[in-house]
Amino acid sequence: MSKVKAAVFASGTGSNFDAITARTDLPCEIDLLVSDKAEAAVIEKANKQNIATYVFDAKAYDSREAYEADIVKELQTRGIEWIFLAGYMRLVSKTLLTAFEGKIINIHPSLLPDFPGLDAIGQAHEAGVKETGVTVHFVDEGMDTGPVIAQEVVPVLPEDTKETLQKRIQEVEHQLYPNVIKELLQK
Ligand code: GRF
Repeated sequence: MSKVKAAVFASGTGSNFDAITARTDLPCEIDLLVSDKAEAAVIEKANKQNIATYVFDAKAYDSREAYEADIVKELQTRGIEWIFLAGYMRLVSKTLLTAFEGKIINIHPSLLPDFPGLDAIGQAHEAGVKETGVTVHFVDEGMDTGPVIAQEVVPVLPEDTKETLQKRIQEVEHQLYPNVIKELLQK
C-alpha cells in the first residue's frame, strides 16, 4: 500500500526538513516542499533529494487567502493530505485550515505558550530561564497558538550562548518532530 502524502512548508535552512525526510520509518512520504523564499537553503536540500518544490512570491498576490488558494490547488492535485510546517515564517489563514482541517502541524523552539513568535530561542536566552524546550502543535490562525501535541524540555545551562542553546534545541527538534509525525499518522 502506498504511503499517505505530506508536504513540508519551510523558508529557512531546512534542518527539520532533512530530519523528517531522513526517517524511513514514517507512515508518510514527503511529496512536496512549499516555500516563500526562492533563495532558502531548504530548497537546495529538496532538490538534492529529488523532492518537488513549490515556491511562491507572496508579494505577487493581493492577500494571504489568494496565495493559499493556489497552494491548496497544488496540494490537492498531488493528493497531499498532511502539512508539516518547519520554519515557515507566515501565519496560516482559513483557506488552508479549512482545506486541511486537523492536518496542519508546526514545530516551535520553546515550551509554548512561553516565547511565541520570532526568535524564541533568543527570547528564552535573554529571559534567563533555566528550562526551555520544543513544542509540536496543531496550527490555527494565531501565532503559535494551536493545541499542543507534544513538548520536550531542554535545559538552559549557565554558560550557554544563544548558539549553544540553539544547537541543543535543534537536536531535540530533529528527534521529536519525526516521532510525533509517526505517532499522529498511525492513529
Ligand atoms: C526551527 O527551530 C523550528 O522550530 C522553527 O524554525 C526553525 C527552522 O529550522 N519553527 P530549520 O530550517 O528546520 O533548520
